[in-house]
Amino acid sequence: MKTLQREIAKAIQEARSVSTLEDVRNEYFGRKGKLTLVLRAVRDLPEKDRPSIGKIVNSAKNELESRLEERQAILEGEGSSLDEEWVDVTEPGVYPPEGHLHLVTHAIREITSIFSALGFTRSRFPEVDWDWYAFESLNMPADHPARDEWETFFMDAPSGQKGKMVLTPHTSNSQVREMEKGVFPIRMIDIGKCYRRQSDVTHVPMFHQFEGLYVDTDVSIAHLRGILEYFAKAFFGPDRQTRLRPHHFRFTEPSFEIDVSCGVCGGTGVNEEKQKCRVCKRGWLELGGAGMVHPNVLKAGGLDPAMYSGFAFGWGVERTYMMKEGLKIDDIRTLYRNDVRFLSQF
Ligand code: PHE
Repeated sequence: MKTLQREIAKAIQEARSVSTLEDVRNEYFGRKGKLTLVLRAVRDLPEKDRPSIGKIVNSAKNELESRLEERQAILEGEGSSLDEEWVDVTEPGVYPPEGHLHLVTHAIREITSIFSALGFTRSRFPEVDWDWYAFESLNMPADHPARDEWETFFMDAPSGQKGKMVLTPHTSNSQVREMEKGVFPIRMIDIGKCYRRQSDVTHVPMFHQFEGLYVDTDVSIAHLRGILEYFAKAFFGPDRQTRLRPHHFRFTEPSFEIDVSCGVCGGTGVNEEKQKCRVCKRGWLELGGAGMVHPNVLKAGGLDPAMYSGFAFGWGVERTYMMKEGLKIDDIRTLYRNDVRFLSQF
């Protein structure tokens, strides 16, 4: 009897859920349970032994039953299963992987906000546009050799009064379009997609440019310098410098190329080991083109060049962003391969 009593007590103690406790109850206390059988056996004992043995078995049974009730109360109080249904409410949740905006989108937003602080408003214009806006109105008549620099995709669509349709090879189509709105002074920042027939380690056939245009009475090169200097310091950092280098564009006169001092070598052109800086050319990085709006462009926009003057600039967003990061990616097409291992670094 003692052995059975111990066995039952152990089974009760080890039951970790109401359902296993129920199994214990059936196994020992059920109709054919082991304890029930012992109780029945007492009846068949000789009369003289019955009271004493009956007493022992009954008290063992009572004791086990109260243990069973106790255990049941504990298990019900803690939930039905300690192991299977136990929940730690203080444990941190499982987060799904979280993405972020593409680095080019980040750059566009940052550029927009810097120029908006200077009173420039973002405009959008068609990215499939007439030859007139992309070239002709910009002082580049049909068949002019300068057009070759903009390796243009032409649309397979009928020509209209404004010529053929092209995928905008630069954002400068926005200049005359903005003038046509007739709201002056103009302080525009147009950020859009550009397309050129080129794809190699330093070119993608679709990229972004941001075009600034300021038109008012008495706009000078000093204004251009001031605005560009402000942008460079805000975007790249307060220690960066800019310089204008003479250049040529058909739609600006005079024209410049804007350089910004290199952030990697601090504008010295050499690194700490006194070797050529791997990012820049002699301390400077080329940002892009700029200049004073050509009188013919003002005329194409319906403005009198004797009264109005302005400046314009147009730079690549991807290039500018890479300069900010001091990034030299071996292949610029990586930006658009959608490889999360690359993108998640930004
Ligand atoms: N549109 C020119 C380019 O794509 C850049 C530019 C814009 C130059 C405005 C001068 C003024 O190279």
